[in-house]
Amino acid sequence: MKTNESLLAERIKHVAQGPFNTHPIFAKKAKGALITDVEGKEYIDFAGGIGVNNIGHCDPAVVEAIQDQVQQFIHTCFHVVMYESYVELAKKLNELAPGNFPKKTMFANSGAEAVENAIKIARHATGRGATIAFEDAFHGRTLLALTLTSKTKPYKFGFAPYAPEVYRMPYAYCYRCAFGLEYPSCEIHCAYFLRDFFSTHISAEQVAALIVEPVLGEGGFVVPPKEYFKVLQKICQENGIVFIADEVQSGIGRTAKMFAIEHYDVAPDLITMAKSLAGGLPLSAITGKAELMDHPQVGGLGGTFAGNPVSCRAALAVLDQFQKKNLLARGKQIGEKVLKKFKELYDQYAIIGDVRGLGSMVGMELVVDRKTKEPATALTKQLVNRCREKGLLMISAGTYSNIIRPLMPLVITDEQLERGLSLIEESLSELERA
Ligand SMILES: Cc1ncc(COP(=O)(O)O)c(C=O)c1O
Repeated sequence: MKTNESLLAERIKHVAQGPFNTHPIFAKKAKGALITDVEGKEYIDFAGGIGVNNIGHCDPAVVEAIQDQVQQFIHTCFHVVMYESYVELAKKLNELAPGNFPKKTMFANSGAEAVENAIKIARHATGRGATIAFEDAFHGRTLLALTLTSKTKPYKFGFAPYAPEVYRMPYAYCYRCAFGLEYPSCEIHCAYFLRDFFSTHISAEQVAALIVEPVLGEGGFVVPPKEYFKVLQKICQENGIVFIADEVQSGIGRTAKMFAIEHYDVAPDLITMAKSLAGGLPLSAITGKAELMDHPQVGGLGGTFAGNPVSCRAALAVLDQFQKKNLLARGKQIGEKVLKKFKELYDQYAIIGDVRGLGSMVGMELVVDRKTKEPATALTKQLVNRCREKGLLMISAGTYSNIIRPLMPLVITDEQLERGLSLIEESLSELERA
C-alpha cells in the first residue's frame, strides 16, 4: 500500500514546488464533509477544497449529472457546437444574481479567468484602461489577476513586471483600519476615500473598473460595515466606473445568501464566481448587466474549455440541490454556531484578537498580543497542523497567514461540526499550555 510518506516523496521528486500543499496527506475518497486519506485515516473537512465544496464531496445528484453527461459527450467546445446546459445555466445565474435589470452570463474555467474577463469587459465598455483594487485582496494568479492580488509573498514575489494600470486602496478592514479610525464614528471614511483617490492616484475618467470582494477570502474573512459597498457603488456610478463584485469565494451560498453582496443590498454591474459553482469541477462565470456583457465583439471573449458541458451539468445540479436541501438556511445555522463558538474561545484565549463573520464565512484572527495586534503567524500554522493530527483539516488566510477560515461543506452534520469545533478548542488549549 502506498503511504502518505511514500507518495509525498514521489510528489517532491516529480512535481514543481510552486503549487503549495497545506497538508502532507493524499486523498483516497471523500463524501459529504469527510475526507479519507490513502492510509484510511478519516478527517472532518473544514477546508472544502478552499471553498469549492459548499455542496459537499460527491453529492449524489451532482455525481449523477456528471455521469449522465460523460455518457453523452464530454467536449464539443461551445464555440464550435453549442449545448443546452451552457444556455440553461446562464439563464439560471441571470435570475439568481441581484439586480432588476437585463443580465447576461459567460463562462470560463477558473476564478482568475473570470476576473480577467470581467476587467476586459469593463475596459471594452468604458474605453478606459485602469482598475482599482484593494489591499489584502486576492483575485488569482494569472498575470492581470496576480497584479490585482495584494499579498506579495508568496504570490507576487519574483513575477514582476505586473500588468499596468492597477491602483490599490485600503479595504474596510476595521480590525486593522488603515486610517486608524473606528467604526461607526469613522463614518465609512475608507469608502469616501475613493473620491480623494481620484485626485491623489488616478483620475476617475481613466478608471474602467473597481473590483472588490464583498468579504475578503484569502485576505482573512474581513467583513466590511453595512454601508460600505453602497458608498463605493454610488461613487463608481457618479464616475461611469464598472463596479465588479468578486464573489469567487464568497458566492454560491457561502454567506447564507447566494451572493454575499446581497447582504449589502447592492446590485453590482458585474459579478465573478467560480469555486463552489460546479461542485468541484472547474467552472467560472461572469454575470452582469446585459449592455456591458454584450459590449465586446463576437469572438472577443471565450476559451476552448470555457463552460465545459460536464461542468455546466454539475453546476445545474449544484444549484438545484442548494434549493432542495435548503443550504442557504443551513449556511446561516452553521455560521451562527461557528461564530458563537469562536466568540466563546475569544473570551478564553488571549491569542484570539478578532472574531468576525457573515453567514458561514466566519474568521478568527490570531495575534501575539491583543494590544499590538502582532500577527501570530507561526502559532496559526501550529494550530492548523495540530488540528490535522487530531483529524480536522483546516486552512489559514490573511496577508500574515494568521487567520483561521473554516470553509466546511454546508452539508456537514451537526455532530461533525461540533466535533471539528471542539478539536480547534482542544488544539488551542494545548498550544497555550505548550
Ligand atoms: C475572491 C477570489 N477571486 C479569485 C480567485 C482565483 O480563483 P482561481 O484560483 O480559481 O483562479 C480566488 C481564489 O481563491 C478568490 O478567492
